[in-house]
Amino acid sequence: MSTSVPTGATDAAKTFLLTGIGELTTNVAADGDPCGTVHDAAVLVRNGRIAWTGRATDASEALASGAEPGVRIVNAGGRAVIPGFVDSHTHLIFGGDRAEEFTARMAGERYAAGGIRTTVAATRAATDDHLRARLAALVAECRAQGTTTLEVKTGYGLDVETEARLARLAAEVTDEVTFLGAHVVAPDHAGSADEYVDLVVGDMLRAVSSHVRWIDAFCEEGAFTADQCRRVLEAGRAAGLGIRVHGNQLGFGEGVRLAVALGAAAVDHCTFLTDDDVIALAGSDTVATLLPGVEFSTRQPYPDARRLRDAGVTVALASDCNPGSSFTSSLPFVIALAVREMGMTPAEAVWAATAGGARALRRTDVGTIAPGTRADLVLLDAPSRVHLAYRPGVPLVRRVWKDGEELPTAATP
Ligand code: NIG
Ligand code: FE
Repeated sequence: MSTSVPTGATDAAKTFLLTGIGELTTNVAADGDPCGTVHDAAVLVRNGRIAWTGRATDASEALASGAEPGVRIVNAGGRAVIPGFVDSHTHLIFGGDRAEEFTARMAGERYAAGGIRTTVAATRAATDDHLRARLAALVAECRAQGTTTLEVKTGYGLDVETEARLARLAAEVTDEVTFLGAHVVAPDHAGSADEYVDLVVGDMLRAVSSHVRWIDAFCEEGAFTADQCRRVLEAGRAAGLGIRVHGNQLGFGEGVRLAVALGAAAVDHCTFLTDDDVIALAGSDTVATLLPGVEFSTRQPYPDARRLRDAGVTVALASDCNPGSSFTSSLPFVIALAVREMGMTPAEAVWAATAGGARALRRTDVGTIAPGTRADLVLLDAPSRVHLAYRPGVPLVRRVWKDGEELPTAATP
């Protein structure tokens, strides 16, 4: 719902003072603290944007300097507030599920890229209405867990008509849509990967391009070679799209180096990295997006976030929500895994799931709580962000605002 407000006027629904915040994570680095933590804090939201942040005791001054008298007060009761999560990697639009494949994997089967084709068959068979309803349910699930910005990939259509449908439906829920025609070789082109790539860079790219912002390719054994990915990504760039890469998920390979060479915004997975890969990432603007929901659900080793952070690489955390390798939409769960299994501190993990995700999407209006950014806020039922890792599996997201508008959560149905 959007409400138009005359210039200079105030939209009362999206204007309030959130005060009584025990611990505010702004992600505006200060005094060596990348999380820009403020204790006993307040945030003034005006017309869906952040107008001011600071100590609660200074809030009256901020109010006097511009907001209407009688501004609505929301009391956080000493709880923690963080920026809304920025989930920079999801595959939220698909038909069917793969619970049987998961069960077989838990009994010892290996994960392989080929399982994607099962979801392709179910997605092609699904109607627009069905896909739209499933997507809406998953988006609501994400929002209720504190995700206020999300990217959605195509990639379960793999023919011109279905990829175009997926791109169009995804664009109904987010501006961050990624074309992933190069997910695996489509079943109709088995045995002729180069021919399939011709289709991806030709008719398929033309059919999706008005709905998408990004192009992605899966550079991996069982998916596409680095040369094939380069063709796809360069075609996307020529069509005006930004570049993202799936790489180094199932084994060592060329994905990371290709992403860096092409100036990709992000290379995602980064589970198997050589020292040269880490050095290349550290000397680039490409964000390494880690997706530990995948390692949880495929029983693979977790990526080594500590090694990347110590080398100076910018790390994001995302859900990779998809029916095959990671069917979770929960960034709190991902944060808990990153802290428990990947050597991240709680502060690093929360930064990576908020500001890191924003960097991975090259966005400056989200992921940070600072004057002018979107009022995307999460109030935790906890005194500090550490509890996201310390209390895994507990629904700590108490209230969520997107653009200053409160969204339903489990706590506020
Ligand atoms: O990011 N790696 C490629 N694509 C997805 C898996 C999709 C699937 O198994 O259906 C991923 O893990
Ligand atoms: Fe993925």
